[in-house]
Amino acid sequence: MSLLCPSRVRNERTADGALLWRAPAKINLTLRVLGRRDDGYHELDSVVAKVTLYDELLFRPRRDGKINLVCCGLDCGAVQENLILRAAELLPENRPGVDIELTKRIPAGAGLGGGSSDAAATLLALNQLWELHLSAEQLADLAGRLGSDVPLFLAGPTVRIRGRGELVEPVRVHPFGAILYLPDPHCPTADVYAAYKANSDQPFDSAHGPEPVEGQSAVSRQQLDEPVSEWRGELFNDLQAAAMRVCPPLAEIFYRLAEATGLSVHLTGSGSAMFIICDDANEAESVIVNLPDEMKNHCRAVSLNSW
Ligand code: C5P
Repeated sequence: MSLLCPSRVRNERTADGALLWRAPAKINLTLRVLGRRDDGYHELDSVVAKVTLYDELLFRPRRDGKINLVCCGLDCGAVQENLILRAAELLPENRPGVDIELTKRIPAGAGLGGGSSDAAATLLALNQLWELHLSAEQLADLAGRLGSDVPLFLAGPTVRIRGRGELVEPVRVHPFGAILYLPDPHCPTADVYAAYKANSDQPFDSAHGPEPVEGQSAVSRQQLDEPVSEWRGELFNDLQAAAMRVCPPLAEIFYRLAEATGLSVHLTGSGSAMFIICDDANEAESVIVNLPDEMKNHCRAVSLNSW
């Protein structure tokens, strides 16, 4: 079953008293790289939407100050390096402790922001569970220290991000459905930015902004609030070519998916996941059922998340 239904609530108490928190995936509807910054990061301007594919985190309070994490589901990598633990450890001293159980459904290295979303969920959940009363500004500051994509997951469901990702403002996007395509190859974010830099090493000029690039599609943020048919073919991602240089099989997957569906395919973030915008999740599902089996297995039908 590939149709992923929206969850009504972001968090709830389970029957045994644990706090369940859902961490949604994101897709970058637009992603413009404005240039290289003095700190080595890239200046971005991107409209990001959260969609209905979730990691789930269960939090159970402890009283001995220990912070434990166990993972199940998709591969989470080394537990000790997980951003969830780094997020918990960033919170104030004298922590009561917590057991965290992660069910991973958002693949890592896919540009879907799963690790960042988990980290943001951890900040929000522990702020509640441990009654820390941290303000939105304090949480945003901690999120920015954890990674460029973490702050955007504190707000939603659709935001514009700028800076290296820490400047987040809500934007309106018309409700949509999407086919997510989750390829086997994964793209390390830093490698994709390095490949981008190797080809277009433009320093970011904060006074004048970037030179407009001829032929670039430019869907406006206002347009994204109009029905899907107005903008679904106009989206762009400046990292797409670099991701395909880092991971050449992605180019073949991209063209096969576009050919099989007859629809515009887009990369999210630094890849490797791709998406196709539809009117709603039912339309996405009806496209998926007609794909060959080996493609179908990589697809999920999602919609815009509501929070
Ligand atoms: O911030 P985060 O650790 O998630 O970023 C991972 C890598 O992606 C950075 O080390 C950097 O190479 C690249 N990056 C960038 N510009 C951004 C965000 C990330 O160059 N705005």
